[in-house]
Amino acid sequence: MKRSNRGSSILPTVWLVTAIMAIAVVVSILIVNDQKDRAERRALEEAYANSKHYYSESSSKGSSSDRGNNQDGNTAGKSTSDGNTAGKNTSDGNTGDGQGIASSPVDDSSNEQTVSAAPTPEVTPTSSVTPTPMPDSAAGRVPVDTSWIDPLKPIVALTFDDGPGIYTQRILDTLKKYNAHATFFMLGDNVSKYPDAVKAVRAAGCEIGNHTKSHSDLKKLSASEVLKEINDTQDLINKTLGTSGEQYIVRPPYGNVNDTVKEVCKHPLILWAVDTLDWSSKNADKVLAEVKKEVKDGKVVLMHDIYLSTADAVDKVVPWLVEQGYQICSVSEMFAVREEYMKDGHIYHYTYSAEEFKNNHPE
Ligand code: NI
Repeated sequence: MKRSNRGSSILPTVWLVTAIMAIAVVVSILIVNDQKDRAERRALEEAYANSKHYYSESSSKGSSSDRGNNQDGNTAGKSTSDGNTAGKNTSDGNTGDGQGIASSPVDDSSNEQTVSAAPTPEVTPTSSVTPTPMPDSAAGRVPVDTSWIDPLKPIVALTFDDGPGIYTQRILDTLKKYNAHATFFMLGDNVSKYPDAVKAVRAAGCEIGNHTKSHSDLKKLSASEVLKEINDTQDLINKTLGTSGEQYIVRPPYGNVNDTVKEVCKHPLILWAVDTLDWSSKNADKVLAEVKKEVKDGKVVLMHDIYLSTADAVDKVVPWLVEQGYQICSVSEMFAVREEYMKDGHIYHYTYSAEEFKNNHPE
């Protein structure tokens, strides 16, 4: 009796120890996976930053009317010459970014609109670009009010990726204080987690964009997988807002786009002309310094609303831009007021400068 009693009292202990060990194993696997995910993501970001792979890729594929594809030398905001001649950034020297982009001019001599790598000191209109008519496919996009924006004054579009999150509201508050708008490229997974932030972005008059559901590298996915990443996110946003069928501009994670993505993605693909590197520096002053160095009229600026340091940076960047005379808009507002109508499956980094806009409208 005693023996069997002791046996039955040991048994639960054995089970308990086994259970604890199993939990420990599962937790350590989760931690390792998370670290792997982060490392992979960082590697991808770095690979992206260190390469110009998609410059040549997109610039060689672009039609002459696809301005976005013609501006790839400007993609990471590291090129001195980009045809955006009315900008404020007279010289940045391209030093210190360590990304090797400045020294790698776009090898795309066949494309007549690609601006040469040599700095152009004088205002030289790149071309007499005729505004493209608004395509029918833009029908589902959320209409924008540009009545508050003067196309003849400097404009910049701030964009925030990877949210929404716990810092989104704070960024919205700062934007509101300065009558500024921005575009928030949201991950479907975070739309589910932070529905109130999604609604707050809309309520603030800011633009919602689609950054895929799970931050996938779209270049690695099949056509149907790409569509699913995009459409799931769009559906989640619509569901959260209580809307139906709204279409959102897309920012592909890591800026990675291939022909499949361009073909199946029935939305404009928005990259950026100024990379603040906020995800890497996590430092508000460094973010401000990048903006000061790279910003020009008509450019799209990349940030991430998932870092406290970026929320801090916005407190510095927004007043500085306003002080410089910039109107701070969403992507769609900036392109609309400069009469560049974004087309589905086309890549955009920045729009016409005020100077180019003026040239498009000879009186
Ligand atoms: Ni991202």
